Amino acid sequence: MAKPTLLYACPTVPAAPWVAAFKTAMPDLELRVWPEIGDPAEIDYAFVWHPPLGLFPQLTALRAVFSLGAGVERLLDHAEIPAGMPLIRMVEPSLGADMAIYVTMQVLHYHRRMPEFARNQRQRAWVALDVPMARDRKVGILGYGQLGALCAERLSAFGFALSVWSRSPKDAAGLRVFTGRDRLEDFLAESEILVCLLPLTEDTSGILNAKAFAAMPPGSYLINVGRGPHVVEQDLLAALASGQIAHATLDVFAQEPLAEDHPFWRHDQVTVTPHVAARTQPQTAALMITDNIRRHRNGECLLNLVDRSLGY
Ligand SMILES: NC(=O)c1ccc[n+]([C@@H]2O[C@H](COP(=O)([O-])OP(=O)(O)OC[C@H]3O[C@@H](n4cnc5c(N)ncnc54)[C@H](OP(=O)(O)O)[C@@H]3O)[C@@H](O)[C@H]2O)c1
Repeated sequence: MAKPTLLYACPTVPAAPWVAAFKTAMPDLELRVWPEIGDPAEIDYAFVWHPPLGLFPQLTALRAVFSLGAGVERLLDHAEIPAGMPLIRMVEPSLGADMAIYVTMQVLHYHRRMPEFARNQRQRAWVALDVPMARDRKVGILGYGQLGALCAERLSAFGFALSVWSRSPKDAAGLRVFTGRDRLEDFLAESEILVCLLPLTEDTSGILNAKAFAAMPPGSYLINVGRGPHVVEQDLLAALASGQIAHATLDVFAQEPLAEDHPFWRHDQVTVTPHVAARTQPQTAALMITDNIRRHRNGECLLNLVDRSLGY
């Protein structure tokens, strides 16, 4: 069998660490780095992030597309990727481990009322605020997939009163599981600290809106690590102003990079990070991709295939 050819087409991501990682993971892989693509008809697989326009129509022998990111909404909307082309999203252990660290850090920060201690410090106010026991702190996670489930597992270790919300029913010991739109408000009522780990789809866009914030307990906290358009920004600003949401941590935004004059940058009740909650790591991700290529070449089914009918 001819050796497989993979095209690296992630123009915004430095290629060198990926070239090294693919070389180690699959020494017989022929890796081409865009724009040096050689004969496009020889390319079997493409590994992409913000792929250049005009590329896909040239790849006449393409058999599957691998996404560098876990969220694939842009690739699903990509006009040049044929509808029947297998699309594989990023699932790799470092991404999950990173996300669990970020989410745990922010949940603990809010649980221990750190924004209030920081405010008191600025005023030199020595105030021993009460902190509820972890078992009395309601933490909710929107999305119980690869990342949401790992975060739930890590947070469970602290003993929080944890709830999760997903599209389909789950069997999750020790968690309160809410399923489907009908149960969304009940779930939100159980979420003093709310983590969004949903994919961006038609159903989930704008889900964090005025109605959702009103359903949460007063003075709640929001951690959005899903996608920017999950949040209706004006509704969040209003909920922060009223105190319904005490503080928000936002890692993702409708427009990235966040515009210099955006009110989130200077807002006292908002923590901004530049889409860094979890980043795909070349060493571990290259193993996942090359393992999938081997499977495909052996006639086995591809893992982590996107379900186009669900949009994630
Ligand atoms: N900020 C960052 O650095 C960063 C990094 C990586 C990923 N992300 C984001 O995190 C998202 C989640 O990643 P993942 O790997 O955990 O995805 P995943 O494994 O596909 O899990 C998605 C979860 O969302 C639930 N869901 C989807 N649509 C729903 C709906 N309409 N109603 C209720 N629940 C719904 C799914 O329910 P079912 O289980 O019932 O299908 C599933 O539990 C990605 O799509 C991406 O946007 C962000």
